[in-house]
Formats: sequence, structure tokens, C-alpha cells
Amino acid sequence: TTTPSASPRRVEYRQTDNGFVPNYATEVVEQPWSSYTRTDNEVWATLFRRQHELLPGRACREFVENMGRFGMGADRIPRFDELNKVLHRATGWELIAVEGLLPEVTFFEHLSMRRFPVTWWIRKPEQLDYIAEPDLFHDLFGHVPLLLNPVFADYVAAYGAGGVKAARIGKEALLNLARLYWFTVEFGLLRTDEGLRIYGAGIVSSKSESIYSLESASPNRIAFDLERVMRTKYRIDSFQKTYFVIDSFESLFEATLPDLAPTYARLRGVPAFGAGDVLSSDRVLHRGSREGWPNDADF
Ligand code: PHE
Ligand code: FE
Repeated sequence: TTTPSASPRRVEYRQTDNGFVPNYATEVVEQPWSSYTRTDNEVWATLFRRQHELLPGRACREFVENMGRFGMGADRIPRFDELNKVLHRATGWELIAVEGLLPEVTFFEHLSMRRFPVTWWIRKPEQLDYIAEPDLFHDLFGHVPLLLNPVFADYVAAYGAGGVKAARIGKEALLNLARLYWFTVEFGLLRTDEGLRIYGAGIVSSKSESIYSLESASPNRIAFDLERVMRTKYRIDSFQKTYFVIDSFESLFEATLPDLAPTYARLRGVPAFGAGDVLSSDRVLHRGSREGWPNDADF
């Protein structure tokens, strides 16, 4: 007999007028916890141990402490139903298991209802250091700890509601908002009294970028400014050329609290900045040496 394996159902791409788009998964499923293989659990253990050792002193205190509050460990892939007991009581959020990337508006609707979609399958052993699409390790280890922080939890829910609204306004508004997600939730840095710390999920779930984002001389580190961020292209295929630094989750939440419709209107047709541009209006914490930057176009 064959055991059902927890191997990923690969996201397939189809060509449309807008280029290649993933064949999105839309189903919310049960996390098939008992079907994880020994290899799946070993991949989790390896990634968990690596980041658990690397992140104290690099990730923000809230991230490290909240990981502990969940009782996540290297021993096994966590069960969403167990995490949900802790999470729901703390901030009203709930994890839902999904097969992969969701269509934008579906994703925003879930967030606005405080449901965080987590890809249930985990990467293969040969993908420890890089995987093109989000898997369980990125979604769970990277995103979920900060959902225990009340202010950050409110920010992500407000972001979801803002996404539903931006989708009605138009494509450009959505792109502005996607950049905000990218440079905060995925690749954000936080200024603390002890120095710069990581809070972005794309960084904390990557060994090499956890080090690079803080310690490399190559990237820019620039103080967060909402409109500046919404106008900045980003890289999806390499380390970031620029990281934006917030002062606190409170200040991030406050900056994004006002109605953004007038901002979208103002930014319409305004050209975007390159991923590595530094402007005279920027508050620059570190000007990147640009070493090792890819020369091809940013997105
Ligand atoms: N206040 C924003 C709006 O009117 C919603 C939002 C909140 C967007 C947080 C992004 C982040 O669109
Ligand atoms: Fe993510």
C-alpha cells in the first residue's frame, strides 16, 4: 500500500494577457497532519533549529517571545488546531490550511476576517535554502508568531480590508498596496534601542537573508515612509536592494490608518522608483554599497 504523501501539489502556471499567472488554489482544506512523512518532519526540524539559533538578537523581541508562547518546537510540524487555541484567544486570529497561493481578493478577504492562510505542505530537503513559492515553513514560522502581537494583528487585518477596497479602485492601487505588504509584512526591519531587528516573514524564514538584511553593506536601509514605499519596485528573485525600517508597530499602524484612496489617486501615473534608488528626501540609515546587485530590471 502507499501512504498518502504530503508532497506539494505544484502550482501550475497558465498564460494570460497579463503574462503567466498561477492556477490559484481557492479551497480551504483540513491540515492533513497525519500524512506528513518523516522527511517532512525532518525538513521542519532542520529549518526550525537553524532559525531558532540565528534569530535571538536578530529578529525583534516580539517575534522570538511569541514563537515561545506557541510552544513551537523542532520535534514535529505544528498542528494548526493547537496553534489556533493560543492565537484565537490572544488576538482573534485563526490559521486556515490552503493548498497554495490564493487569488488576491480572496486572500485580502481572509485577512480582513482575521483568517491567515497557511500553505499546509512543506518544501523538499533540496529546497532548504530557496523555494520560489511560499510553503508551510515560510507561512507558519515566518508569519504566525507576530499575529500574537495585538498591534501587528490589527495591522494585518486592516491591510486585508484595505486590499478589498484597493481592488475595487483599480490595478495601480493594488500594486501600491502590494508594495506596502512586501516592504513591511515580508521584508520589514524595526529600529529598537538595541539596534535594527527583523520582523518581516520573508527574512525570518530565510537563513541567508536573516544575516544579509542586517549585516551586509550592500543593501540600503531607509526609514519607512508610506508613499515612498508604495512607489518602490521590488525584487522577488534575489535579496532586497532596499529594506525599509519602521520605528514601531504602532507607528506603522498609524501611518496606514487613514483612508488611502486619496493616496492612490495622487500616485496614479506617477513613475515608480527602482528597487535600489536612494532619494534626496530619504532618511537613510545605511546607504548600500550595491555590491552583488543584479543589473537587470526591477519589477
Ligand atoms: N486605511 C487603509 C485604507 O483606507 C487600509 C489599510 C490599512 C491599508 C493598513 C494598508 C494597511 O485603504
Ligand atoms: Fe509571506
